[in-house]
Amino acid sequence: MFKVVASRMIVPNMHLLTLEAPNVAREAQPGQFVILRAEEEGERIPLSIADWDKDLGTITVIFMNIGSTTNRLAALQRETSIPTVVGPLGNATEIEKYGTVLCVGGCYGIGSMFPIARALKEKGNRVITLVEGRSSYLFYWEERLKAVSDKAIQITRDGTKGYQGHISRLPDILKDIDEKPDRVIINGCTFLMKRGSDVTRPMEIDTWVSLNPIMIDGTGMCGVCRVSIGEETKFACVDGPDFDGHQVNWDELLQRRKTYMREEVVPLRTSRCEEHRLRAQEK
Ligand code: FES
Repeated sequence: MFKVVASRMIVPNMHLLTLEAPNVAREAQPGQFVILRAEEEGERIPLSIADWDKDLGTITVIFMNIGSTTNRLAALQRETSIPTVVGPLGNATEIEKYGTVLCVGGCYGIGSMFPIARALKEKGNRVITLVEGRSSYLFYWEERLKAVSDKAIQITRDGTKGYQGHISRLPDILKDIDEKPDRVIINGCTFLMKRGSDVTRPMEIDTWVSLNPIMIDGTGMCGVCRVSIGEETKFACVDGPDFDGHQVNWDELLQRRKTYMREEVVPLRTSRCEEHRLRAQEK
């Protein structure tokens, strides 16, 4: 069993979970993920590792409460435990000296981008971090990111912080700050990674994304996580999760991610509606 060391909502609907998993913490590298189960018979879900502490033997993941399994994970209390933490899985993000690297994070990807930006900085790169969100109240770990950034940029849809708009504004922003990255790395939801890759393609900037398809075993056995990269079929769990964003078949990935949407989201919504109905009856 894996003990819960910390569990809290860090911004609306976004949760941080720190678990005691010494074997995972000892081996973890930026860009890798774990597969968790909230209960014995539960669904297995992949989550990127956002941080780890080798001495304490802990790992931290950040996730959005979006379906029935993440809802169960978000409800975990300190000192309770979960039955499964498998990892670290996947290949580590390639960390070399590239020059200037733009690290883009959105949503849960802000968390998983942090150890990547830190490793790139340690390697001697000039690191620019860019966080994207609907509004500034959805940003977290800003101080942590700033500590490993030469420049930190924000984009908000409502204009409450930084530039207004979304990642499609990247060409204007780079012109404005007079920067030309040698590599872009994007972590976050599929739409952010797709849009980001679309915008860097004509600029011919090497762009890497961390793909997040549905997974079951995470070790190359089930084939559920298959993605099309150029002309090839790859398994995101063992061949990735990082791939060239300009080669990903985004439409197929978006379609495949919807496969269990009904089973995930409908019970969650139904149970919440039922909760509200019962509370209303009690009043
Ligand atoms: Fe089963 Fe990747 S999750 S092959």
